[in-house]
Amino acid sequence: MSQRIQFSQTGGSEVLELAEAAPAELGPADVRVRNKAVGLNFIDIYFRTGLYPAPKMPSGLGTEGAGVVDAVGEEVTHLKVGDRVAYAQGPLGAYAQLHTLPAAKVVALPDFIEFETAAASMLKGLTVQYLLRQTCPLKGGETILFHAAAGGVGSIACQWAKALGVKLIGTVSSQEKADLAMANGAWATIDYTRENVAERVRELTDGEMCDVVYDSVGKDTWEISLDCLKPRSLMVSFGNSSGPVEGVNIGILNQKGSLFVTRPSLNGYADTRERLEMMCEDFFAMLKSGKIKIDVANRYPLADAGKAQDALQGRKTTGSTILLP
Ligand SMILES: NC(=O)c1ccc[n+]([C@@H]2O[C@H](COP(=O)([O-])OP(=O)(O)OC[C@H]3O[C@@H](n4cnc5c(N)ncnc54)[C@H](OP(=O)(O)O)[C@@H]3O)[C@@H](O)[C@H]2O)c1
Repeated sequence: MSQRIQFSQTGGSEVLELAEAAPAELGPADVRVRNKAVGLNFIDIYFRTGLYPAPKMPSGLGTEGAGVVDAVGEEVTHLKVGDRVAYAQGPLGAYAQLHTLPAAKVVALPDFIEFETAAASMLKGLTVQYLLRQTCPLKGGETILFHAAAGGVGSIACQWAKALGVKLIGTVSSQEKADLAMANGAWATIDYTRENVAERVRELTDGEMCDVVYDSVGKDTWEISLDCLKPRSLMVSFGNSSGPVEGVNIGILNQKGSLFVTRPSLNGYADTRERLEMMCEDFFAMLKSGKIKIDVANRYPLADAGKAQDALQGRKTTGSTILLP
């Protein structure tokens, strides 16, 4: 048996309960991981609230973790019991002591990456990898707008952009978050709770505006984001922290300057073993070089997953949050 966080109905954090449950049965292509640390992500809140439907109820939660391989299916060749590993995708259920998932989604963890660092950064770091290196392969010299720059994904994006020679303008909701984004390598910050974002972008860029906008806030910022772009440039909408973007009239892309828009996901980019390995290699190299450091800013016991989610949803966190099983 293993302790896990589960929920039987969607709703607020009160629906999360700590339960004793047997981990899912091990299939021939699966591994079972004894988690040392578990990552907390905004997507976990989308599943808990029902914005994204869980495949079955009661449901486990979470898709990011790091630990030691506890059992391997008979077809698994690249991992063995005792290996240090990490993962960022797969079936819901990472908020647990033991988690069974397809071995194809699990990567060996290099010795220089600690379990807590891995759990705090696999999903977020691979996301920044595809956003900055694939969705729009940035070369250096571009100016980008990145919303929620002091958050988990944002803190990594600031550092990666700086390393690439990209000017990242980060939006934040407080001076403390602005200071953190700047310390992580943002070129400038805008407090989007009190400043006019498009006007500030215009000032900061001498009227040029941005080559790419990365928007994970969604509903509240969609149109503001379009106003910050150069003609014929790219809007990357990759999250819903304030709610989903709905009811878009596609003609707005014409009105705002013949814009391009994409709505990507990690699963859409790390969709084969080869692509996952390529993305991990790139991200792990950034960690090894010291160009990216992971701020494990918030740690909670597994049982307090609800409190941890409330802090994330309530905009009270900076950097990454992990759960300790
Ligand atoms: N598509 C993908 O592949 C992918 C992968 C990973 C993450 N994401 C998305 O990226 C975003 C960041 O994820 P994360 O886990 O690192 O979270 P996070 O950035 O640490 O937390 C979300 C941040 O969003 C900002 N925010 C703005 N309006 C908000 C609102 N109404 N409610 C809550 N927060 C609001 C807050 O920063 P301020 O206080 O500074 O405004 C908050 O700290 C999420 O939207 C997530 O879904 C997408």
